[in-house]
Parts: sequence; structure tokens; C-alpha cells
Amino acid sequence: GTKLGTKLKGVLYPAILTSPETLEALKSFETRSDDVILAGYPKTGTNWLDAMVSELESTDAKYTEEEMKERINAEKKLEIFPRLESGDPGIYERMKKLPSRRVILTHLPPHLLPPSILQSKAKILVLVRNPKDTAVSYYHFYNNMPVLPSFASWDEYFVAFMNGKLAWGSYFDHLVEWNKYIDHERIMMISYEELKEDQVLGMKRIAAFFGFSLCEEDFPRIAKKTGFQAMKEKSKETHGKFGDILFRKGVVGNWRDLFSKAQNEEMDRKFEACLGGTKLAEKMKY
Ligand code: PPS
Repeated sequence: GTKLGTKLKGVLYPAILTSPETLEALKSFETRSDDVILAGYPKTGTNWLDAMVSELESTDAKYTEEEMKERINAEKKLEIFPRLESGDPGIYERMKKLPSRRVILTHLPPHLLPPSILQSKAKILVLVRNPKDTAVSYYHFYNNMPVLPSFASWDEYFVAFMNGKLAWGSYFDHLVEWNKYIDHERIMMISYEELKEDQVLGMKRIAAFFGFSLCEEDFPRIAKKTGFQAMKEKSKETHGKFGDILFRKGVVGNWRDLFSKAQNEEMDRKFEACLGGTKLAEKMKY
């Protein structure tokens, strides 16, 4: 992929989304102890998590209409996504002006995060998803996003995914790195699958982790507002022309459409070799 121009510690990043200068400047990012950090490999459902957590956060904070407007305007001025590693290096100066609490999304693994995040008191919520569904979701994204190179076939893409030759590197490496933090008191892991199974329960775990207190009836209301259909319907407004690409199917098990028997077995073996016997593997019910 010629359009994947930026390398950080051997991992590729789409030149169109980030730059060597931004990744270098990342080190200067100043974490606030009340920052709400969301981390997840691309296509694990990070936009969904962002929507849920932002709703939970603002419901807890009870911002006035005026404050809410200010927050949305400040966010709009940044116009980058994912928040932490995209845009120009000046982003970190502009992020200083964001009102607290900031909800900050990143696709970076822990060893590439600005050191101040792990050293601060900020909590990090890590999203994981079945690697097969993640791979399929990323495949469609690659082939539909004009700024990313297309693959000639699923088989060709599968090799790239297995070898981590994609933007933000290897999903397996991400999981291995995050697994090291699974018992960290300021880090919680949640899976796409458990959120799909019971979104209200998942959101209650998230709220408890961040110390948000909401009313019982807030949870089903937010679940409805951030359900797949609701988010897809609003996607033009929230994500512009990329809305249709981003909100594709939103289901568990879509990998069956594309994986061959051999590819399925190969991924099982790879997952077992990388994460077999770990707490994270158990959490992912994989
Ligand atoms: S990105 O491009 O990396 O930021 O993509 P990301 O948001 O992490 O992941 C996109 C996948 O998440 C699905 N999605 C949802 N699933 C369930 N409920 C809701 N509300 C929701 N919103 C987004 C989206 O459809 C992508 O998965 P696939 O399997 O491709 O449909």
C-alpha cells in the first residue's frame, strides 16, 4: 500500500489520517486525571463505544444547554478522528482548550500511547472484538474508503491482516499488548460481543468503572439512542459521507460470509498461539 506512508515503531499508519510529526508530537499530549480514554483497534466498534460513553458522561455531568453547546463547538473545531493520533501536530495545543471531561478515542495500543496517559489517574476503557468479525469489517472498510488502498481479493487481504500489514498494525499484537494490562486498576476491557448481547448491562459496567451515576431509566434510553439502527439513520449528520461505510452491518458472526475453512482454522491457530490461556482470550470467549 503506497498510501500508507507513516511508520511508528515499525507500524504503518495511513498518511492521509496522521503524519510522522503528529505521532512524534503525541508525546507532548497532556493527560488530565479525569480524561475518559477509549481505546480499540480499528473496526472493533469504537464509534459505537464513543457514542455510548459520551452519552453516559454527559448524562452524569448534567451539563446545561449552554455548556453542551460549548462542548460540541470545541469538539467540532478539532475535526479529527480518532482523536489522539490524527490531524496535525498542533492538535495537542487545541486539545488543551477542550472543556473537561474530555472523551478521547484512540486506536493506539498501550506501548504507543503518550506516556502521560498510563502515568496519570485517567481511566482507560479498552474495546475488543472477535478477530474474525474485526477482519471482515476492516476488509470492507479498506475496499470502500477512497483514502485507503483496495485489495484485489479477500484472500489477498486475509494475508495482510494475518501479518499485520494494515493501518494501525497487527490486531494480534494489540491484543497481546493490552492483555498485559488486564489486571490494571485503571483499565477495563469490554467486548463488542457482550455489548451486543446486553447493551444495558454493558453500559452499567462502563458507568460503574468511570464512576458515572445515572438513573435506572437512563440506560435503556441511551441504548436505544446508540443502537445500530439509530446511529445508522443519523450517520450522514454525524459522520458525513463516510456514514454509510462506517455503519455497515453491526452484527456478530458476519465473518462466516468470507472465511474459508482453512482461513478459519489458521486464525484459530494464530489466536491460540498469541493469546491462548490468557484472561483476555477467556474474556473474548474465543
Ligand atoms: S473505525 O473505522 O475503526 O472507527 O470503525 P469502528 O467504529 O471501530 O467499527 C465499525 C464497526 O462497528 C459497527 N457499529 C456498530 N455495531 C453495533 N451497534 C452500533 N451502534 C454500531 N455502530 C457501529 C459497524 O457497523 C462496524 O462493524 P461492521 O461489522 O463492519 O458492520
